[in-house]
Amino acid sequence: MQITINGTNVTVNETDDTPLLWFLRDHQGLKGTKFGCGIGSCGACTIHVNGDAVRSCSIPLDALSDGDQITTIEGLGEETNLHPVQQAWLELDVPQCGYCQAGQIMAAVDLLKQFPNPTNDIIDAHHDNLCRCGTYIRIRKAIHRAAELLQTTEATS
Ligand code: FES
Ligand code: FES
Repeated sequence: MQITINGTNVTVNETDDTPLLWFLRDHQGLKGTKFGCGIGSCGACTIHVNGDAVRSCSIPLDALSDGDQITTIEGLGEETNLHPVQQAWLELDVPQCGYCQAGQIMAAVDLLKQFPNPTNDIIDAHHDNLCRCGTYIRIRKAIHRAAELLQTTEATS
């Protein structure tokens, strides 16, 4: 099976019930995606498959299809050209320990795709990634800031 990971073609020779999270971390060396609960509850392992946020601890390799496009935090932006959500996270200094934040950012990107100008209620209802450090207030502010940045980016592109 051929998939792309962060824009690079990757051959998956054996598909089994190995969680995608471990394929990314152990086989591809993409350690930005974190393991938290392992049961699809915390969101630490959130990545995008074909543009949609998924919890990679709960996606077995044999659930992927030929041609699937995977994006991890490493492929979201570039160091000199951050994704607007990453830029907002930096501006608002969101992380505390940082462990959950890659998943938070990947989930926020998908939220803003569905709701380009979300209210607090929408954020609270749809952004349910857990943070043991309790950075929820800053996450909410950063999502609002990212919405502004995305709108500016779209207006100038
Ligand atoms: S590690 Fe995947 S949702 Fe918690
Ligand atoms: S910043 Fe520490 S778990 Fe979220």
